[in-house]
Amino acid sequence: MLGEIILIKLDVIKKMTTEEKYKYMLILLEGQLSSEKDIYANISNASAIIYAIFDKLNWSGFYFVKSEELVLGPFQGLPACNRIAIGKGVCGTAVATKKIQRIDNVHDFPGHIACDSASNSEIVIPIIKDDVVYGVLDIDSYDFNTFTELEEKYLIKFVDKLNKYIDWSQL
Ligand code: SME
Repeated sequence: MLGEIILIKLDVIKKMTTEEKYKYMLILLEGQLSSEKDIYANISNASAIIYAIFDKLNWSGFYFVKSEELVLGPFQGLPACNRIAIGKGVCGTAVATKKIQRIDNVHDFPGHIACDSASNSEIVIPIIKDDVVYGVLDIDSYDFNTFTELEEKYLIKFVDKLNKYIDWSQL
C-alpha cells in the first residue's frame, strides 16, 4: 500500500449526498495517512483531497508558522501570498485567536487578504496540537456562504486526523 496513488472515483462522488462526500473525504485521508510517512506527500494530497471533494472551491491549502509568521505550504489553486503576518487576514486571525474563522463574505472581514480576487467565502481551521499552533488549513470558495456548520464539522475531523498522524515539528 505504501506509495500507492489514491484513486478518487469522481463518478462515484457525483452520486453521493453532501455528507456522504465528506465521510468519503475522511476515508481517503485515512488511506493516505496510514500508507505514507512523508509529511509533504501527506499534506500535498490532503489539500488535493479537499479540492476534489468540495464543491465551489478556488483554493485549498496550508500555511505554517515559521519564524513568527505564516509561510505558504502545499495547496491547490492559483499562486497565493507567500507570507502572512500573525494577526493579519483571516489566516493570521485564526492563528492569533486559535479559533476557526468561518467567513460567509470575505469582503466584510476587516483586513481580509485577497490572494485570489475570485474568493467570496472562506474557512480557516487552525492546526493546534498539544496547545502549539503549527499553522492553518485555509479553504476558499468563489461563492458566498459556502461553509456551513456541516462543512466546519467535517473539516475539524479532517484536521483531527492530520494531527493524529503528523508530527508537525518535523516540517
Ligand atoms: N484570504 C487569506 C489569505 C490566503 S489566501 O486566501 C490563499 C487571508 O485573508 O488570510
